[in-house]
Amino acid sequence: MTACIVGWSHGKFGKLDGETSESLIVKAASEAIAHAGIEPKDVDVIYVGNMNGGFVRQEFHSSLPLQTHPDLRFKPSTRVENACATGSAAIHMGLNTLAAGKARFVLVVGVEKMTELNSAQAGEVLIKASYVAEEANIEAGFAGIFGKITSAYFQRYGDKSDALARIAVKAHKNGAKNPFAHFQKEFAYEFCRTPSDKNPFVAGPLKRTDCSPVTDGAAAVILTDVGTALGMKQAIAFRAAEHVNDFLPMSKRDIIKFEGPQLAWQRALKSAHLDLLDLSFVESHDCFTSAELIEYEAMGLTAPGEGERAILEGWVERDGKLPVNVSGGLKAKGHPVGATGVSMHVMTAMQLAGTAPEGLQLPKAKLGGVFNMGGAAVANYVSILEPLR
Ligand code: COA
Repeated sequence: MTACIVGWSHGKFGKLDGETSESLIVKAASEAIAHAGIEPKDVDVIYVGNMNGGFVRQEFHSSLPLQTHPDLRFKPSTRVENACATGSAAIHMGLNTLAAGKARFVLVVGVEKMTELNSAQAGEVLIKASYVAEEANIEAGFAGIFGKITSAYFQRYGDKSDALARIAVKAHKNGAKNPFAHFQKEFAYEFCRTPSDKNPFVAGPLKRTDCSPVTDGAAAVILTDVGTALGMKQAIAFRAAEHVNDFLPMSKRDIIKFEGPQLAWQRALKSAHLDLLDLSFVESHDCFTSAELIEYEAMGLTAPGEGERAILEGWVERDGKLPVNVSGGLKAKGHPVGATGVSMHVMTAMQLAGTAPEGLQLPKAKLGGVFNMGGAAVANYVSILEPLR
């Protein structure tokens, strides 16, 4: 155990007209500092997780948290980017800074303002997180990448559309309880399972209800060392934090194996001296329902090709043996890419502190797992969190 989250904030996710990445950053930063019970002057180092790539014209974001308070002026601040795992990458930079003894308090803000573009334009930005030399011409933006992965999975293991629809239903059922979520309504199984005008195919076998939405939002955390954390009002410790990158081209990998995510999970569980089922819950990167399905296999919940058992037999439901995406996940909570990894850590910290919103809080949350992924299983981050005391 080397570091702790001692303050956090999470704004409402959604289509946030009237907000800018600057206004989202300032709100998230000031609320996280206040929640930690520290003063802006106490922050030593800042990281901003922001993918951008053309979502908004303002690309240079690192100094925007300084707008929060004059005492943040002259603090070192850096923008971090690792595709859809940008938020976790920023947190890892904070952990590394603490481990190097270069800071006592680190502020990490994850932010993305995506909805200034329409879905097709956002897809053009997101496809830059593929191996452009081979994959950029695939139709439907990044959904096309996962459409291809899903088709390959169906070819090897059979049509799993029932399982995908059940994953979407679970996400929206959970998201309906989350006041921070982009979509706060339940979706019926028949609606998710059946193609329709309101639920058309987007890419390969993936329908609209299989995709995370294009979302605006921000979240922030304050990190510190364990010794300092012992004196703070709340402290959620990192029992493990692992980062594994795989080759970028899908052509160099068996893409339905998710070997990078699997290795990150194995390393995290080993360093934490835990088995997967010791965890009370997991927040996993369901950018598409098929990603969550394959992640059940990568985390070791089922054998390869049997991921559907986890959803069809109820293991990953809120009251199952390993609840997955109690927050609603990226699918219902939304996926503002630079904010997502920070959001996953905040949702997990809230559960472990027992302060999740009413209806969302799990009764026995002792150990939480987070899996955040950039690209198609390329940049993979697993954290295991637990209350410090
Ligand atoms: N799931 C469920 N409903 C969705 C949705 C989603 N992902 N996205 C949009 N909707 C709903 C809207 O709320 C709207 O509902 P309404 O008619 O009741 O108001 C309706 O669908 C149409 O919205 P619109 O934004 O016009 O849909 P779209 O077809 O342009 O976009 C997707 C839908 C799925 C293509 C878009 O959300 C998308 O590109 N998602 C993937 C983003 C991505 O790749 N992220 C990175 C992953 S690594």
